[in-house]
Amino acid sequence: MKKSVWGKDSWKTFTAKQQVDWPDKDYSNKIISRLTTLPPLVFAGECRSLKSEIALAQQGKAFLLQGGDCAEEFQKCTAISIRETLKIILQMAVIMTYAGEKHVIKLGRIAGQYAKPRSSPIEKINGRELPSYRGDMVNSIEFTPEARKPDAGRLLESYFHSAATLNILRAFTKGGYASLDKVHSWNQEFVLPSKEGKSYEKLAEEIDKALKLMKIIGITPKNAPQVWEVMFYTSHEALLLEYEEALTRKDSLTDQWYDCSAHLLWIGDRTRDLDGAHVEFLSGVHNPLGFKIGPSHKIDDIIRLVEKLNPENDWGRITLITRFGKDKIKDHLPGLIQAIEKEGLRVLWSCDPMHGNTYLAKSNYKTRNFQDILSEIKDFFHIHRSEGTIPGGAHFELTGDNVTECIGGAEKIEDHHLKNNYATTCDPRLNGKQSLELAFLISSLLKE
Ligand code: PEP
Ligand code: CO
Repeated sequence: MKKSVWGKDSWKTFTAKQQVDWPDKDYSNKIISRLTTLPPLVFAGECRSLKSEIALAQQGKAFLLQGGDCAEEFQKCTAISIRETLKIILQMAVIMTYAGEKHVIKLGRIAGQYAKPRSSPIEKINGRELPSYRGDMVNSIEFTPEARKPDAGRLLESYFHSAATLNILRAFTKGGYASLDKVHSWNQEFVLPSKEGKSYEKLAEEIDKALKLMKIIGITPKNAPQVWEVMFYTSHEALLLEYEEALTRKDSLTDQWYDCSAHLLWIGDRTRDLDGAHVEFLSGVHNPLGFKIGPSHKIDDIIRLVEKLNPENDWGRITLITRFGKDKIKDHLPGLIQAIEKEGLRVLWSCDPMHGNTYLAKSNYKTRNFQDILSEIKDFFHIHRSEGTIPGGAHFELTGDNVTECIGGAEKIEDHHLKNNYATTCDPRLNGKQSLELAFLISSLLKE
């Protein structure tokens, strides 16, 4: 393995996949210097809190719920859109907390999820080829040469959109909106009449009763702020290393480096090479880290990766997000668990049941089937239980909106419905009802 002295720019001497060759270098350098001077988006102390919550989840005392868009869009950075994503995550968390009887750590794929790794650098439509869309941090979704040209100004725009998103998230979560006495108001109109909407209402009524009782016995927002405030954390894939480096700062309390673009950063399945730049960069920052593991992994590489990223075997540092697909999870997960256990490595096991279950529908839309998602989640729980390890988290691409991107679920979305409201710029997301349905199903798995 290549050795180096870590610095926030030492990744530059390693091979970095999925980076952007900006057309105007003077301009991109100027933008990156500007980013380096802007305030951090999150604080080191918050990253440490998330790390301790993940440590609890590793011991079975909490469950990590991570979710949001596959790719955030600048255009959707509105109060309403952010509120809807927050609401669905809060609803799912409430369901899992009360029906599943577990503390739920709320972690958005939000406020920075603007860069996407691509399998192919080229997209072809009707015989015409253009560079692929690589997320709003790089270029734009419209299929024109102008829109697909990388523009470094988008790095700065990503920073400001992330800041605006975080600002309103902090206001919503600390200003009473996320308080448990608002549980009813998180239920959306289009969800209300559905079976899931009704089950949710029932649960919300029970919470109301409990809160009333608490008030009677003197538990108030003043003496128990944890009931009225929520800690909501942010995460994204650390893909464009120039951006991540520019937001990396030394914490004055501990003298340690943190990537202050989000609380948790993850490395994707395409960029987790042991000798690659992404692993080098993240090995030196002290945030909690995730990495995605797909069916092409080699067990030895994963062991060495965990050791490189967590040499002290700290609690809460590493979350392994497995995404094998419903047909492959049984072949891959048990062996990986056994190897990690044999080495005594401390990790949190989380399941991404989305990325191994994507396929092209007959209608030509990229989709996922609710049953496949559910099947991978169920196997994830059952395999961990039979190996004696803890199924500690789940990772979803979801939106609170009434989109039609994933097939199935209680409302029985079929292939011919996908066109009705297919709004994602990248991967298909669960809609509000499908997300709630899944939260109820996970609750029963948590209690099993
Ligand atoms: C993603 O999370 O959107 C993604 C690209 O995942 P993976 O790296 O697992 O393919
Ligand atoms: Co995705």
